[in-house]
Parts: sequence; C-alpha cells; structure tokens
Amino acid sequence: MATALVSTELPLELVARGKVRDVYDAGLTEGEFAGALLFVATDRISAFDVILENGIPDKGRMLHGLSEFWFELLTPSVIESHVLATRWDDFPESLRTRLADVRDQVDGRAMLVRRANVVPLEAIVRGYITGSGWAEYRRSGTVHGVTLPAGLVESQEIPDGPLFTPSTKAEQGAHDENISPEKAAELVGADLAQKIGESARALYAKAAEHARSRGIIIADTKFEFGQVDGKLILVDEVLTPDSSRFWSAADYAPGRGQASFDKQYVRDWMKEHGLDTAAKNGTKVTLPDDIVQRTAEKYREAFRVITGREFA
Ligand SMILES: Nc1ncnc2c1ncn2[C@@H]1O[C@H](COP(=O)(O)OP(=O)(O)O)[C@@H](O)[C@H]1O
Ligand SMILES: [Mg+2]
Repeated sequence: MATALVSTELPLELVARGKVRDVYDAGLTEGEFAGALLFVATDRISAFDVILENGIPDKGRMLHGLSEFWFELLTPSVIESHVLATRWDDFPESLRTRLADVRDQVDGRAMLVRRANVVPLEAIVRGYITGSGWAEYRRSGTVHGVTLPAGLVESQEIPDGPLFTPSTKAEQGAHDENISPEKAAELVGADLAQKIGESARALYAKAAEHARSRGIIIADTKFEFGQVDGKLILVDEVLTPDSSRFWSAADYAPGRGQASFDKQYVRDWMKEHGLDTAAKNGTKVTLPDDIVQRTAEKYREAFRVITGREFA
C-alpha cells in the first residue's frame, strides 16, 4: 500500500491547513488564474473532531477525484463553482515548473480554485433523518428547530422532501452548532441564506438522483458557499464521504442506523478504545494498520460506485 501524505510542503505561500486540506496561494498574477488558491487534499483523516496521527493512503486523491466528478455533474448547471483547473496538465506552465520537484504531492490531489469569501455556514441538506438530526427529533420532534411530523423512525426519508439544515462553521477542534434556517438568515442575511438554501437543495436533488442510479442513498451532505465579486459560488469539496453520509440502497431499511461508506471503522475502533473523547483531553490517536486498510478500501469503494470507474 502507498504511504499516506499527511502534510504537504510546497514552495508556495501557505494560506491555511484545514483538517484535511492544505491551501496555498498559487502565486499566479495573470489571466484567469490571477489570485488562485491551490487546494490540496492530503490523506489526513479526522473523527470526533480530532485529526488522527496517521493518514489513509490515497484518501486525498480519492476525495479529489470524487469532488472533480461532482463538480462536472453539478456545475455550472446548478450554480457556478470555484474550480479553475483540477488536472496537473491544465495548470499554467509557470506553476508546473515551480512545483516540478514536488509534483507527487500535487498531481491528482490538488485543484486550482478561485479564492472566495467563504460564507460562515455549513449548508447541510438532509434527505433522511439520522445522526444529530435524529437525536434532536427524538428529544423535541424537530430537526434544526423545524417541526417534523410525529412518528418518524430512524433513517426514514424526510416527508415533503429534503431539508436545508444549516450549522455554524466552528473553529478547529470545536463542534459546529446546528441552527434553524431563520437563525442562518440572521447570521448572514435573509437573501443570502435563502439563495444558499435553494442552491444546496438543488445540488442535493441532482446528486441524489445520480447516486440512486448507482445504488447509493445520500442520506445527508454538507456544502460550502463563497462569494466572489458579489456572486455566490459553490466552494470547498463536494459530496465526498467526508462531507456526506452514503448508504447502500440495497441494504437500506428504516427503523435502525445504517452502515455507511465513511469512517465507521474508525469511529467504532475509537469508541471501543475510549478515544471518542480524545479531542477534549488532547490525546493523540494512531490507528492500527488493519483499520487504516479497511478504511482505505471504503473510500475506494465510494469512488468506484459513484464514478463508475476503478480508482487508479
Ligand atoms: N474557494 C475558496 N476560497 C477560500 N477558502 C476556501 C475555498 N474553498 C474552501 N475554502 C476553505 O478551505 C478550507 C478547506 O480545508 P479543510 O481541510 O476542508 O477544512 P476544514 O477543517 O474546515 O474542513 C475550509 O476552511 C474551507 O472553508
Ligand atoms: Mg472541510
């Protein structure tokens, strides 16, 4: 198995290291690429708000490939995106020259994107009731403050269609907070919140239709939006196992939790070893090899099923 790339070191100005992505200023000043960011998916993995010590080999390349696939399917037909170029060969020659020595950290895992003012909302869309939505519903009959009909069971498809259920974007290590659409409107303005809600639901609808044709249910997902010259665009990654819950349609049954394509092995293993609260006490977490390998296989499977081709 390939070794995991947990951190990149590129000869460019580092703008941010997120949980998974290293973001650089690409240093380009001319034409359509002026001011672009180089958005690099590493093999880091996080669970329970901790970034784990080891990565999942090739996870970043699979996330990159999946996002690329969805951007092609969904944008610009639903909304424009931040994407300028996803393939090494399409990067400007000056950048390729500058990165020639570190090409292995970039090729197949980095895209050039327009730098946007990211709207401080996680634009979550839920088609099915699960996770924190299910927990809230059991307590109060609501999901993000929105009242739903009584008598829903765990993992049930939400009657009357997918809900826009935003959350705040917390600082690293902190928990995002679920909020109502009204609260989102207070935070970012009614017009912007409305546009984001509409776009997020339209993106979800089109993606869910594609996924369904491949035997996958997208239970819920999270988009991010940004503004460039006053225009709203889709940013960040799109519809990967890190930002979405994918379920197998063949195995789906309401009334219980569903096995998913994402970090289930990682979460189960951490819980078993009392590490699900590691973030609180700063404990470092290293996964054993078999969990790493099984998780890598899950990402590979998600890539294969959704794109219809083998991950190379
Ligand atoms: N076009 C863009 N311009 C500026 N920032 C962006 C853009 N697209 C995504 N981002 C930000 O880049 C970061 C991506 O790194 P990631 O590892 O996913 O971070 P996080 O830990 O917040 O999930 C996120 O903070 C995201 O909001
Ligand atoms: Mg992210």
